Amino acid sequence: MELRINGRPHAVAPEWRDEMLLHVLREHLGLVGAKFGCGMGLCGACTVWLDGAATRSCVLPVGAAVGHELMTIEGLAAADGALHPLQQAWLEAQVPQCGYCQAGQLMSAAALLRQNPAPDEAASAVAMSGHLCRCGTQQRIRGVLIQGRR
Ligand code: FES
Repeated sequence: MELRINGRPHAVAPEWRDEMLLHVLREHLGLVGAKFGCGMGLCGACTVWLDGAATRSCVLPVGAAVGHELMTIEGLAAADGALHPLQQAWLEAQVPQCGYCQAGQLMSAAALLRQNPAPDEAASAVAMSGHLCRCGTQQRIRGVLIQGRR
């Protein structure tokens, strides 16, 4: 069994088969950008891409990800290290506070912009509605998405 993550193959050991993707990413593969928040698919901290769609990795059995293209926050920047335009916009707007939820927020925002390069307020609200942030960064995130700073 093998996962493709950020364009690279990763072997999945047989004993990991019953684990959730988030656990495999963080504990076995060292990809710790996606975070454990609720573990129930409710907060968005663990969001990664599955075939380009924002997906909660805490509730996705690792076996269900086999045969799909995964991307984590570690794969969002260019191979030469240049930030994704959305990451750059995030920095310029000083979006993060504690930062814990931001990898998941970025993956959902980037997935939205792939589908809709100029989202309006309603589309942004829907796309980001499943992300909890106790620091209150939602307004700045919505501003980045709506103002087209990407
Ligand atoms: Fe996955 Fe909260 S940790 S949605």
